[in-house]
Formats: sequence, structure tokens, C-alpha cells
Amino acid sequence: MRVLITGGHGQLGRALVRTAPSDSEVVALGASDCDVTDPVAVRAVLARLEPDVVFHCAAWTDVDGCEHHPERAWRVNALGTQHVAAACFEAGARLVYISTNYVFDGEQDEPYHEFARPHPLSVYGASKLAGEEAVRALCPQHAIVRTAMLYDATGRNFLTTVLRLAAEQPRLRMVADQYGNPTFVDDLARALWQLVERSAAGTFHVVNAGNASWYDWAQAIVETLQLPVAVEPIPASEYRRAARPPRNGTLVSLALPTLGIELPDWRDALARCLARRD
Ligand SMILES: NC(=O)c1ccc[n+]([C@@H]2O[C@H](COP(=O)([O-])OP(=O)(O)OC[C@H]3O[C@@H](n4cnc5c(N)ncnc54)[C@H](OP(=O)(O)O)[C@@H]3O)[C@@H](O)[C@H]2O)c1
Repeated sequence: MRVLITGGHGQLGRALVRTAPSDSEVVALGASDCDVTDPVAVRAVLARLEPDVVFHCAAWTDVDGCEHHPERAWRVNALGTQHVAAACFEAGARLVYISTNYVFDGEQDEPYHEFARPHPLSVYGASKLAGEEAVRALCPQHAIVRTAMLYDATGRNFLTTVLRLAAEQPRLRMVADQYGNPTFVDDLARALWQLVERSAAGTFHVVNAGNASWYDWAQAIVETLQLPVAVEPIPASEYRRAARPPRNGTLVSLALPTLGIELPDWRDALARCLARRD
């Protein structure tokens, strides 16, 4: 199986590379090798590599940056995905598009399953949803995978931010009234390979089980590593930011159990990720 990863140098792209099945031939390209905003370049890459599967991970993931520069968000996340979807159709490749829990407004109290109605509150969420629509319209052989709160032991993410802040400050103030599923990229990557093995088509919510607020998550990191800092809960109204994340961004899957795919609880995943740091 020949596999192309867009956004291959990002945190999920790197996890897909390190969890790849041994019988797969994987090419992971960064923005300088395959700029998804350039339709000619995207088509040329697919024609050259002839992949069976494309994991489209490339995105502008700076949620607050997308609010300040919406045109760039639409160009990369929506138009870029349109180019990738059209090129996959032309090349006969199956497309796995990575989307987000930010497509939901978070106003309901229950977790969101795959058939809940999207209603994004942010430019990032709206541009990723437009990407989903392009995939559905242009490439029939697709899986759309919505995930949330990705982290790894290295790189820029909430876990590494908490560790940096904990080294600088005696007290961390964390939002306690916004929820989601902290998801270890390695667990997501393994589930993505399982979806491909099963030729799964449609929309899937793929996250670690259970949910947490930013406060719960920071508290779990601090407790697991026994860091000498206090974590203080604050309301989202006290943490000003450009984008409005969903209050309840918790995802759940109706589809994965039917495929025999199950992800571990987020606390178990966090412990494994932190153990890898040492
Ligand atoms: N991070 C999260 O919490 C989260 C949550 C839900 C869903 N997702 C989705 O999951 C996917 C992977 O996220 P991630 O955390 O791995 O993000 P990431 O670390 O920011 O990686 C995204 C990659 O996209 C690349 N990229 C940006 N603009 C590009 C362009 N014009 N052409 C080609 N590549 C471009 C960047 O490449 P360079 O490094 O080469 O610039 C970057 O490495 C994204 O689609 C994201 O929307 C993420």
C-alpha cells in the first residue's frame, strides 16, 4: 500500500509515520514539498507518487490566528482540501481527511456523535467544515475523521505548554467550563491505520474515551508527574481569546464500535505519553 501524508511534518503526520504498518510505503510531505493551496502542485505530487491512500493532515491549526486572518484559513483549510479531494479523485486514491470537534457549537450537554448537526462558532471550525463538504462532493472514496485536543510528548500542544508554564510559574490558571477529549496522536494514528485496513468509508469520530476540561487535563498532567505547582480553575470568560471554542466539544462514536475499533481512556493515554518522555 502506497500512502501519502500531507502536513506530514506536523504532530499527527509524524505519528502516522511512526505507527505505519510494515507493509506500507509512506511518503510524508511538508508544506514546502506539497503546498495544498497550489492545485497544480497537488495534482503533480499525486500523479508522481500514485498513492493508494492519502491522509490529508495539512491545515492551518492556529485557531486564534484563523480568527485574525480568515482569508488564510479559508485558503488552506477549505480551498486546500478542495484541491486535495479533486486530485485524489483524479488519481483514484482513497482520501482520509482529518477534521475537528470545532465544527460543533458545543451548546448541547451530550457528547456529539457522527450524525449531530455541525454549527461552527469559529473561522477555524467553519473552514474545516467547508473542507469536509469539499471531500464529500469531490471524492466519493473518503473517510472524514473528526478528532479533538491532539497532543504528543514533543512539539507545540497543550501538554507541552502546561509543562513549560509549570517550570516558570507556581500557579496555573486553567479554564474549567470547556470540555473535549484529550487525544494522544499515537492512539489516533493507530486507529486511522485500522480504518484504512478496513476500507472504512463515511464520517468517524476518533478520540480517546472520556472527557475533560482544560483544568482537568492540566491537573492530570501535574498529578501524574507530581509537579510542584497548583492548578486553579477559572471560567472561560476570564481567559480572553480571539476564537470561541465549543463549550462542550466532547465527541463520541457510533461508527467505530461497528468496526471493532476502540480507543483507550484519555487518562491511560496521557500516562503512556508521559512515560515516553522519560
Ligand atoms: N491539533 C489539534 O488539537 C487538532 C484537533 C482536531 C483536529 N485537528 C486536525 O488534525 C490535523 C493534524 O493536526 P496537527 O495537530 O498535526 O497539526 P500541525 O502539527 O499544526 O500540523 C499541520 C501541518 O500542516 C502543514 N501545513 C500548513 N499549511 C500548509 C499548506 N498550505 N500546505 C501544506 N501543508 C500545510 C504544516 O506544515 P509545515 O510544518 O511544513 O508548515 C503543519 O506541519 C489537522 O487537519 C487539524 O485540523 C487537530
